[in-house]
Amino acid sequence: MRILGIESSCDETSAAVVEDGRKVLSNIISSQIDIHARFGGVVPEVASRRHLEVVIPTVREALEKAECTWDDIDAVAVTNRPGLIGSLIVGVMAAKTIAYAKNKPLLAVHHLEGHIYANFLTDFVVEFPVVCLVVSGGHSDVIYMPEHGKYELLATTVDDAAGEAFDKCARALGLGYPGGPIIDKMAKEGNPKAVRFPRARVKDTLDFSFSGLKTAVVRYAESSEDDIKDITASFQAAVVDVLVSHTFKAARERGVKQVLVAGGVAANSGLKNAMTEKGKRTGIAVSVPPMVLCTDNAAMIAAAAYYNYDKYLAHDLRLDCKASEPIGL
Ligand code: KG4
Ligand code: ZN
Repeated sequence: MRILGIESSCDETSAAVVEDGRKVLSNIISSQIDIHARFGGVVPEVASRRHLEVVIPTVREALEKAECTWDDIDAVAVTNRPGLIGSLIVGVMAAKTIAYAKNKPLLAVHHLEGHIYANFLTDFVVEFPVVCLVVSGGHSDVIYMPEHGKYELLATTVDDAAGEAFDKCARALGLGYPGGPIIDKMAKEGNPKAVRFPRARVKDTLDFSFSGLKTAVVRYAESSEDDIKDITASFQAAVVDVLVSHTFKAARERGVKQVLVAGGVAANSGLKNAMTEKGKRTGIAVSVPPMVLCTDNAAMIAAAAYYNYDKYLAHDLRLDCKASEPIGL
């Protein structure tokens, strides 16, 4: 089965063709980073307009790269929740139009489920139950997943998401946008032990809190002569530390043998190294997809649709978008 995936929930327009939920035949990503960089963050109205311009050419390119005609496509899957509403609408309208014109089933995918299913597009063999760490620009969740399509939220953030912390910190330090990749790069040349920034705990839970860390970093940078590379490395170490320790605590509590990492922040080299290390020490297998599958892309949407076909099937074209919705509803 070949599924055409479409993703437009934030600032990437993407289309992909995935065979049997595993084999990526194409995964075209049109990024808007350059457009939003001068504003220091994603401007929703600008994002929707850009999606509108590129969504059809991106779909066409995905089909061409996959060497597929419409006859080779069995279904169309699209992210319809959660995300920027104007951006979501563009992808969903494109998918509806294609589904209607080409007479294909339409599948409506939850964006975070998509991120988790990026782990099915690699050589890693997922064996349930697993614990997933989903860290993106809008979410920082630890999720127990006993089988396909079933989720139990074990921890979330009480304020900023991990990606948001990277972005806000970079902006406050005048480093540019998006903060995650910039800090990741700088941190490689800095000393992560230079400054001991706080590791916040939320009483009696595994929840995260990152807003105090951002403030601590900015205050410290204002009054210190330290190399900015050391400051960013120490900030990243503080984020990574709590993400790793809470995830493995959840994994131990649930007795799982595998941990999956997903979302844009999973592209962070410090997080990947720390997760892999901790996995080796504890005997828990860790999956971190390659960078291109961690940040927003349509291959992960097509994969999630394949494994949750019945759940996602939209029975008519009145399918709607939602700016927010918890995973698993
Ligand atoms: O999953 P994603 O592409 O979009 C959302 O669903 O939000 O995640 C975007 C987030 C941004 O906050 C970005 O700064 C962060 O992921 N990110 C990173 C890295 N690459 C992207 N954070 C840390 N290190 C990275 N290398
Ligand atoms: Zn995302």
